[in-house]
Amino acid sequence: MKRIGVGIVGLGNMGEAILRGIYRHDRFTVAGHDVQAARQRLMARRYRMARLSLAELVERSAVVVLCVKPQEMDGVLTEIAARVQSRHTVISIAAGIGTGYIEKFFSGNVPVVRVMPNMGALIGEGISAFCRGRYATAQAGRLTRILFGTVGALFEVPEKQMDAVTAVSGSGPGFIAFFLAAFVKAARRAGLPADLAALFCRQTLCGTAGVLARLRIAPEELVRRVASKGGTTEAGLAVLQAAGLERMMVKTVQAAAARARRLSKR
Ligand SMILES: NC(=O)c1ccc[n+]([C@@H]2O[C@H](COP(=O)([O-])OP(=O)(O)OC[C@H]3O[C@@H](n4cnc5c(N)ncnc54)[C@H](OP(=O)(O)O)[C@@H]3O)[C@@H](O)[C@H]2O)c1
Repeated sequence: MKRIGVGIVGLGNMGEAILRGIYRHDRFTVAGHDVQAARQRLMARRYRMARLSLAELVERSAVVVLCVKPQEMDGVLTEIAARVQSRHTVISIAAGIGTGYIEKFFSGNVPVVRVMPNMGALIGEGISAFCRGRYATAQAGRLTRILFGTVGALFEVPEKQMDAVTAVSGSGPGFIAFFLAAFVKAARRAGLPADLAALFCRQTLCGTAGVLARLRIAPEELVRRVASKGGTTEAGLAVLQAAGLERMMVKTVQAAAARARRLSKR
């Protein structure tokens, strides 16, 4: 079977995570490019890749994965535009940049796919959503599933849902870590030393997520199982309810989604 050439542009946090996911995959050969020479050297050594210019990378790849910051995207798209043809599939992970916006840089019917990964991808535990542009066929979707399946779960959504995905799984790690930081402070106030407070809170979060996934139960069901009548959990939950945690979460996600909408280029 002929291997598919994948070129990754931007080898930062996400670029490396994707590179790590696919570089041993028997269906792909992978190459990368980063403007930072030291970073490119390090990645080339770590993943045994040739060091290619951006032009060479595009020439040699069937799939070009753009992993640069949204503000760098116009520059990269302008630079690669003349070399990208309909034989390529262009995948962008840049937050807020629509498939239609990217398609306009190219002449011809270039398949464009937009993926929103999240931080879990760094350890192969990500969750990503993708949507296909007007020229991206089901085959481009299958390719995306294989590529991003190496860093976690992946779901196709209509492009209009991408702002909500950005607010939930993109920003979500930040919300959860913020909650965890408050939980740790509370654990210290309750009398635990700093190291134990951090460890107990983090492991409680991981264990809870693991139980929910393993037992395939809804969070409400887990709450019911833990909170026995007149017990300690029930006493704590009453405070969260009175403080309006649910309403606060709705406002938090709404604010993130509204921001994603305002920042987006479609
Ligand atoms: N991190 C996340 O959790 C997350 C989640 C979802 C989506 N994303 C998206 O993923 C993308 C990358 O994020 P990141 O956190 O991986 O960023 P990052 O760590 O800053 O990595 C981007 C890399 O690309 C390099 N670069 C900039 N311009 C370039 C060019 N013209 N050609 C080649 N390389 C270039 C950057 O170099 P310089 O530092 O010199 O600019 C940097 O090394 C962003 O668009 C972001 O919206 C990230």
